[in-house]
Amino acid sequence: MSSDKSLRQTADERGFNFGVAVDPDALRNDVSYRARVRDEFNTLTPENALKMGPLRPSPETYDFGDADAIVNFARANDMDVRGHTLVWHNQTPTWFQPWDYTDDQLERFLREHIQTVVGRYRRTVDVWDVVNEAVADDGTMRETVWYDAMGETYLDRAFEWAHEVDPEADLYYNDYGADAINEKSDAVYDLLERLLDRGVPVDGVGLQLHALGEWPDCESIAENIRRFQALGLDVQITEMDVAFPAGEAPEDAPQRQAAFYRDVVEVCLDTGVDTLVTWGVGDANSWIRVFRDFSERYTGDPLLFDDRNRPKPAYDAVIDALDG
Ligand code: XIL
Repeated sequence: MSSDKSLRQTADERGFNFGVAVDPDALRNDVSYRARVRDEFNTLTPENALKMGPLRPSPETYDFGDADAIVNFARANDMDVRGHTLVWHNQTPTWFQPWDYTDDQLERFLREHIQTVVGRYRRTVDVWDVVNEAVADDGTMRETVWYDAMGETYLDRAFEWAHEVDPEADLYYNDYGADAINEKSDAVYDLLERLLDRGVPVDGVGLQLHALGEWPDCESIAENIRRFQALGLDVQITEMDVAFPAGEAPEDAPQRQAAFYRDVVEVCLDTGVDTLVTWGVGDANSWIRVFRDFSERYTGDPLLFDDRNRPKPAYDAVIDALDG
């Protein structure tokens, strides 16, 4: 049941932001990749280019080349941009050794980083993942360099600094494994409630939705989304991909994967979530194939397009759901 309308057209007609995480080299060098990004999606997230490591070759310098390339591509093609991410414990610069700095120096460094990056993309980045993955899997606050230096208020300051520089941007807290109701999403909920009580300018929650091996239950995702919305927050699905345990894909894997994508789009439409981002264009570009031991744990085919960027059943399923 291949549709005559592209995913992008269908999403545009529905007023839905259907996004994709992109890699600057593929965008520059791979013609079929570039065409898919432009024709099938209306929202972009730089997969790595806006993280602190790639942006900061040395303590004093910034390299905006890759991030600019993506942001400029988005503007030229009338797409929204999700900025990912200002504060995270992973992918910090290689030269960055936290124990070389005092707590005050770390705070100043973070403030200057946020002010510079948000300032550069004012009015071009629509949404920022201000803080990524601040909650540990057991629901405690993750012990990161930022937490060690500033305590939980590192989140308060990060959101405030970003808001001062770009009051128009929507500011998100983003995390994985908090998609459905569970111990971790309870902790994320409590954290966001505390931030809101303290008057921190947080606008929304990003649910990454890496459905790897085990997929969260859609009714529970909807319930989870609704409780965040009841706090006055917007919710977006920010990094979706869908894989089976390695070696355990059923015969009808493409259809089951398609059904899950469809169900999640329907949850979005039912709950009023207006943004869903997939974490890559085609399976060949998926992080699952290269990240840690993930390729031994999960099937390497989690996206809407296959190895050669041809649409899969999941692609038809999301169009169908958006069109329904
Ligand atoms: C991943 C990228 O896809 C990889 O290319 C990189 O090597 C590691 O990070 N949660 C996030 C994303 O918030 O930034 C991660 O992206 C995937 C998990």
